[in-house]
This record gives sequence, C-alpha cells and structure tokens, in this order.
Amino acid sequence: MGHNNINDEELLEYIVKDFKSGIQHGILVANLTYELAKRMELSESECYELKIAGMLHDIGKLKLSEYLYGRNSGELSVEEMKYMRMHSKISFDVLKNYDYSDNIMKVVLYHHECFDGSGYPDNLKGTDIPLGARILKVTDEFAALISDRPYRKAFDIDTAVNILIEEIRNLDMRVFIEFQRMIHEEETFEIIRNSKVDLENLSLKDILSFAD
Ligand SMILES: [Fe+2]
Ligand SMILES: [Fe+2]
Repeated sequence: MGHNNINDEELLEYIVKDFKSGIQHGILVANLTYELAKRMELSESECYELKIAGMLHDIGKLKLSEYLYGRNSGELSVEEMKYMRMHSKISFDVLKNYDYSDNIMKVVLYHHECFDGSGYPDNLKGTDIPLGARILKVTDEFAALISDRPYRKAFDIDTAVNILIEEIRNLDMRVFIEFQRMIHEEETFEIIRNSKVDLENLSLKDILSFAD
C-alpha cells in the first residue's frame, strides 16, 4: 500500500476506530429507523427491512477509510468530498453480491438523496426517493448529530433537532413531523441508550477473527 511500518500501524488504528464507530452508527440508525418506520405505519416486514438497511447503509464507507485517513478536521477537501459522496454507491455494490431485497438495496443506494433534489448519487427529488430512504435520511442525520465525531462533540437531542429543522428542505416533512413526535418520548431515549454498545475493548485481533 506504499505506507512504511509506522504509518501502517497508525492506519490500522484509524481503520479500527472507523470500524467501531461504523458499527455504533449502524446499530443506532437501525433501531431508530425501525421505530420511525413503525410509526409511519409501514408493515412489519418493511420495518424490518429498514432495520437491516440501517445497519448496512454505510458499509461502503469502510472501503474509504484508507483514503480518508489522516484528515483531522471536519472540513473535507474537494477530493475527499468526492470520495465521500461515492460511499452510498459503494455500499450498494458491496451488498449486491448477496441476496438482499430490492427494497433494502434501494434504501442503501439512496440514503443520501435530499428531498429538494440536492443529494447523491442520482439527484432524486421528493417522492421519487423511496419512502424507506426518506425515513432513513432523517434517522441517519440525527444519529450522526448525537454522536461524537473526530472533529466535534455530540450535540444534545434538542440541538440536533434544531439543526435538522434548519436543513428541512433536505427532508420529507411528513417523515420529519413523525420523527419530531417520537423524539421526545421516553421510549425513544431508551432506544438511544440501548443502542450504545461498548466496543472500547474490542481489539484488532477480535475484529480480524470475525473473518474466520
Ligand atoms: Fe451514509
Ligand atoms: Fe450513515
């Protein structure tokens, strides 16, 4: 890979960290998406598919770890941004070799489409975006905001909701209204608490042994 030994070690550490936060993010998005989908009165099987999509939607990001390694600030360069915007398509490509349903595949592919048409990869607009992707868009953004990032601390729930309101043009209003209803309920706090898995002591050896 062209790295010397010290950099390889740092790179591995970075990738492991990325892997861990990817799993945390997947679990939180999966659980919140399932709950929101239930409230949107989707069928049990659709809710369950969305839960799977929630767990897997960013899997393509792991392939980008290596390229994005070394950045410390929140601001991505144009080049990094270009890579980043490929991740939903990469997730789709990784998963298409397995037999996930069309519904799951579409949600994964379109989870960064915006309601106003400014998203990626296909600039889909409004209800052209599959409903599942519009639901996951809300929970995904929210989950990211209430989690620590390398360049910032987690926002509290109210601040996170206010940030989403500022960017409401990206979201399906009907989905967001339902989300706002659920977000201040004790049941939702519990979902958020229960989604925090402690991976602090998960070592690289443990991770690599998953491949056995
Ligand atoms: Fe994503
Ligand atoms: Fe995500």
